[in-house]
Amino acid sequence: MRHLLLPGYRSSSEGQFHKDDERSYYNLPRNKKVALTTLGVVTAGGAGLALMLHQSVKASDLELHPPQYPWSHAGPLSSLDHASIRRGYQVYKQVCSACHSMEYLAFRNLVGVSHTEAEVKTIAEEVEVVDGPDESGEMFTRPGKLSDYFPKPYPNPEAARVANNGALPPDLSYIVNARHGGEDYVFSLLTGYCEPPAGVTVREGLYYNPYFPGQAIGMAPPIYNEVLEYEDGTPATMSQVAKDVCTFLRWAAEPEHDQRKRMGLKLLMGSAILIPLLYYMKRHRWSVMKSRKMAYRPPK
Ligand code: HEC
Repeated sequence: MRHLLLPGYRSSSEGQFHKDDERSYYNLPRNKKVALTTLGVVTAGGAGLALMLHQSVKASDLELHPPQYPWSHAGPLSSLDHASIRRGYQVYKQVCSACHSMEYLAFRNLVGVSHTEAEVKTIAEEVEVVDGPDESGEMFTRPGKLSDYFPKPYPNPEAARVANNGALPPDLSYIVNARHGGEDYVFSLLTGYCEPPAGVTVREGLYYNPYFPGQAIGMAPPIYNEVLEYEDGTPATMSQVAKDVCTFLRWAAEPEHDQRKRMGLKLLMGSAILIPLLYYMKRHRWSVMKSRKMAYRPPK
């Protein structure tokens, strides 16, 4: 008696051939072998070339890469440190906002994240916002509201350049997403100012910073020990200030951060139950098919 094999059916008894044997690379006709080999070589070569070009176009490899810092929000299930966001906002407001805008943040975004609604209302009211026109066609100023966006330090980029030796302070709303290294980079940049090495001179009005591409940055060192006094009494060392403002900037660039990780946790817990269940059901339903053996009995 000889077994007939269905496509995909694998038998272990002797005298039979596997479907895999039939279709393997070695049994292909010559022209197909050549075509397949060429395709493989071209794909691998193309990928290799693309990788090499990518490396060589990254010509800015002369700057120092930031180390990876152990952020408290770095873990897959860790939330942002909201006390740190609150201090970071204070740093932004008292230091960075003199030069940097954050035009995509509104005061209402802080409610429930770092401040209470009443606190944010008080903060917003300190700002004078131009509104209007009123019924006589005049623009007027009024105290800020929750729905107002953060005030900008300069009316336009040209004015910002004039005030900063020609360098444009970028908007900080999404800065940690806009730079390689994210908050590690911003932290290193803020704390990394130092004397230029021997033989290196930086132009008047620029400052030496090994983390900045090109090493000469138009921003004067913005923070130092005790640059401000925290309202919660935390000692305002340089690294503490930099850490807090980076946490704040991470939240600004990714306000959904905590929600995202909470969803991830739910998903993991849900699939921990569902996947074994599905696997069991699949085995159950397929057991009939999997244990079936087809035989051909030739007519006598
Ligand atoms: C006195 C004005 C001033 C203050 C205050 C200031 N900056 Fe800047 N900042 C600048 C300027 C100007 C640039 C652009 C530098 C350049 O392109 O050479 C800049 C650039 C930056 C950059 C971008 C660097 C890059 O990779 O392009 C970051 C990030 C930054 N500042 C963060 C901060 C933070 C955080 C604070 C507050 C702690 C701050 N700055 C305070 C003027 C300032």
